[in-house]
Amino acid sequence: MIGGGYVGLVSGACFADLGVEVAVVETDAAKLDALQNGRIPIYEPGLDRLVAENVAAGRLTFSDDLATAVAGVEAVFIAVGTPTRRGDGHADVSYVNAAAEQVARALTGYAVVVTKSTVPVGTGRRIAQIMRHARPELEFDVASNPEFLREGSAIGDFMRPDRVVIGAESERAREVLRRLYRPLYLIEAPILFTSLETAELTKYAANSFLAMKVTFINEMADLCERVGADVQDVARGIGLDGRIGRKFLNAGPGFGGSCFPKDTLALMRIAQDWGAPSRLVEATVAVNDARKSAMSARIVQAFGGSVHGKVIAVLGLTFKPETDDMRDAPSIPIVSRLAEEGAILRTFDPVGMSHAKDLLPPSVQFCADAYDAATGADALILVTEWNEFRALSPERLADIMRGRLLMDLRNVFDPAVFLEAGFDYRGVGRGLQAFREQNKKAEG
Ligand SMILES: NC(=O)c1ccc[n+]([C@@H]2O[C@H](COP(=O)([O-])OP(=O)(O)OC[C@H]3O[C@@H](n4cnc5c(N)ncnc54)[C@H](O)[C@@H]3O)[C@@H](O)[C@H]2O)c1
Repeated sequence: MIGGGYVGLVSGACFADLGVEVAVVETDAAKLDALQNGRIPIYEPGLDRLVAENVAAGRLTFSDDLATAVAGVEAVFIAVGTPTRRGDGHADVSYVNAAAEQVARALTGYAVVVTKSTVPVGTGRRIAQIMRHARPELEFDVASNPEFLREGSAIGDFMRPDRVVIGAESERAREVLRRLYRPLYLIEAPILFTSLETAELTKYAANSFLAMKVTFINEMADLCERVGADVQDVARGIGLDGRIGRKFLNAGPGFGGSCFPKDTLALMRIAQDWGAPSRLVEATVAVNDARKSAMSARIVQAFGGSVHGKVIAVLGLTFKPETDDMRDAPSIPIVSRLAEEGAILRTFDPVGMSHAKDLLPPSVQFCADAYDAATGADALILVTEWNEFRALSPERLADIMRGRLLMDLRNVFDPAVFLEAGFDYRGVGRGLQAFREQNKKAEG
């Protein structure tokens, strides 16, 4: 397994748990040091135990010695990063290409080289060329096996996937991968064998579709606010239709994370390059970018146009709960803009604060817990819906806060309870609430 990040480490540990001998190769010295000393460099529920058990059983090892790791293996998975290339939005495949070349030089016999990283269409064929160029006599196959795990539930997603997609074009390669995934086949996870290009595109299409779904409900949320409707009910109303489905219909501050932003952008570029631009994906990217900046504007507006000197508590910084991943988190533009405009930011996140410190302005304060962050605050903004925030006591918050503004960017709080406690509650797309409030005032 080349790369010991979110995907490489989780899939490596899961394969090992299924009885495969796995050598994870990681070049980042700090990460490798952690892994070799029994520490997990990322936060992923259940991963520490899974890694410890499989290391103890001798099936899982970590090193930076690629040559030793790939000697005699049947399959090499490339799970290195494919971030957005600076400047043009294309996926940067340089780490993948470099890994493929190193693998070609080190292999001692036939192996299947599998891209698990999310890679642009055509990458598989290109790395086959790179490998042939590096080692003309080497026997190998290239396959594509995109990973669909979600951070926060990665082990469950790997072990009980909705499907496994494998782009492979020789029976020999298919057989190696079929054997690796057989334990999952026994739990009836469908394995879809496709061409290389199909597998590569399937991953981008899946992420872009989900990103589009999130973006659609976000636009509906804006409309709900105007017309006095409640997006929670709209989402339920459409989501119960089996053709639509309830998941990924939660209105919020715009999608972030390590995958949706870079994969929508990359698919947009891929489609343009191939002369079949996707206006839906382009619109998704543009609407989501605009939404992230609109979120901080919405907060400034709630303060009547200036947040200068206001104390604002921000709960949740990671792009979603149950991960420490801060890549493209909506909290970054929101907190940065408020800080730029002179607000005093008191933030808390259960696991993301050490990463957040490198990404947020130096004036931002990091607090011990949610109540600590809320102490003396004029407003409380919930950005990431960690479970521990769901049960915050409105009375206790009211006691320690200076102001009463509550911006629930994930619609997790019960508006009635917070209104009752005297808060100026504002969710996302909860127009009905504003409507009721207006009515109440009018009646009053
Ligand atoms: N994070 C997710 O939830 C997720 C889900 C599905 C797919 N993916 C895709 O999987 C790929 C990896 O994503 P990630 O989030 O795990 O990235 P990551 O940045 O967490 O991990 C990549 C790791 O690879 C290491 N690396 C880079 N070059 C190397 C080399 N030549 N040899 C050994 N190690 C090397 C890096 O040091 C890093 O630790 C990306 O293409 C991503 O799009 C990610």
